[in-house]
Amino acid sequence: MKSFTHLWLLIVASSLCASCLCDENPGRGLCIDDERVALLQFKHDLIDDANRLSSWSSANIDCCTWDGIVCDNFTGHVQELHLRGPDPEREDASTQMLKGNINRSLLLLKQLKYLDLSCNDFGVTQIPSFIGSLRNLRYLNLSMSQFFGEVPHQLGNLSMLVVLDLGNGPWLSNVPMNSMHWLSSLRLLKFLDLSGYDLNSASDWFQVVSNLPSLVELHLPSSNLTQIPNQLSEVNFTSLTVLDLSYNIFDTMMPWWIFSLESVVSKT
Ligand SMILES: *[C@@H]1O[C@H](CO)[C@@H](O)[C@H](O)[C@H]1NC(C)=O
Ligand SMILES: *[C@@H]1O[C@H](CO)[C@@H](O)[C@H](O)[C@H]1NC(C)=O
Ligand SMILES: *[C@@H]1O[C@H](CO)[C@@H](O)[C@H](O)[C@H]1NC(C)=O
Ligand SMILES: *[C@@H]1O[C@H](CO)[C@@H](O)[C@H](O)[C@H]1NC(C)=O
Ligand SMILES: *[C@@H]1O[C@H](CO)[C@@H](O)[C@H](O)[C@H]1NC(C)=O
Ligand SMILES: *[C@@H]1O[C@H](CO)[C@@H](O)[C@H](O)[C@H]1NC(C)=O
Repeated sequence: MKSFTHLWLLIVASSLCASCLCDENPGRGLCIDDERVALLQFKHDLIDDANRLSSWSSANIDCCTWDGIVCDNFTGHVQELHLRGPDPEREDASTQMLKGNINRSLLLLKQLKYLDLSCNDFGVTQIPSFIGSLRNLRYLNLSMSQFFGEVPHQLGNLSMLVVLDLGNGPWLSNVPMNSMHWLSSLRLLKFLDLSGYDLNSASDWFQVVSNLPSLVELHLPSSNLTQIPNQLSEVNFTSLTVLDLSYNIFDTMMPWWIFSLESVVSKT
């Protein structure tokens, strides 16, 4: 009786093994139908002159194999969208950039953790506020993508965010930002780049960034900053190792506490 049970278990185990080998056959695909439809809607609203998204097609039903997409291997949910454009220095850069509208259908990607739309050309429009509803985002990179206008405060709802790169590079500067209060809720944020935003009217800038408990890298070059506090008692940087405040003209001397930070990149 005992050996019979063993044999039975062996048969069950080997058939399970066979079925998991079958599942590795890419023909079946992982992609979730709703998410495929959402991605096709998203593509439909983009202008893709260079046909970078040619693999995004209903002819290939497994959206997890499309360029720039990473799915969870077990659930099949889309977790990452890697749609970084070309190096803006390239001669043919502008034809390689994605343009057009960012469709709200992205909200159907409920497990999205990583979104990189950097180095594309969204035509000097505002960052869509619905991005603040992609609650699972850990990584958001919209740098050098020709977004303009106030950053929607809804991005402060992205409480899982670890990396936020909205830096504009030398292509777009003086984008106004009147308050940084919305950032205070990003308790897990390690990396923040707002280069090219004009923070002159954001009088809370220092109070906000110095109280982000996880911050490791802060990039605020060319931000039209003039005020920086002198007293270490006002400073709560515990983990900061990279601080870039280059191309700002402060009213006062660089305060001494800056030099007590581990690694500082600072040209003023
Ligand atoms: C998003 O795509 C859907 C379906 O293609 C379309 O009906 C809708 O107008 C688009 N929304 C925006 C804001 O472009
Ligand atoms: C998912 O599968 C791919 C291809 O087999 C592999 O490269 C990747 O590391 C896997 N990812 C995870 C999180 O297991
Ligand atoms: C964001 O994208 C830019 C341009 O593609 C890249 O240079 C930068 O390293 C990215 N930022 C992060 C934090 O990964
Ligand atoms: C998301 O952010 C907006 C603006 O900051 C706020 O009004 C709203 O209550 C937030 N939603 C949630 C669910 O936290
Ligand atoms: C910096 O901010 C001041 C005050 O808002 C403004 O007058 C000035 O034009 C800004 N400078 C730059 C270089 O944007
Ligand atoms: C610094 O952080 C600690 C712990 O998060 C907090 O209790 C304290 O009030 C903060 N200090 C300042 C000056 O904000």
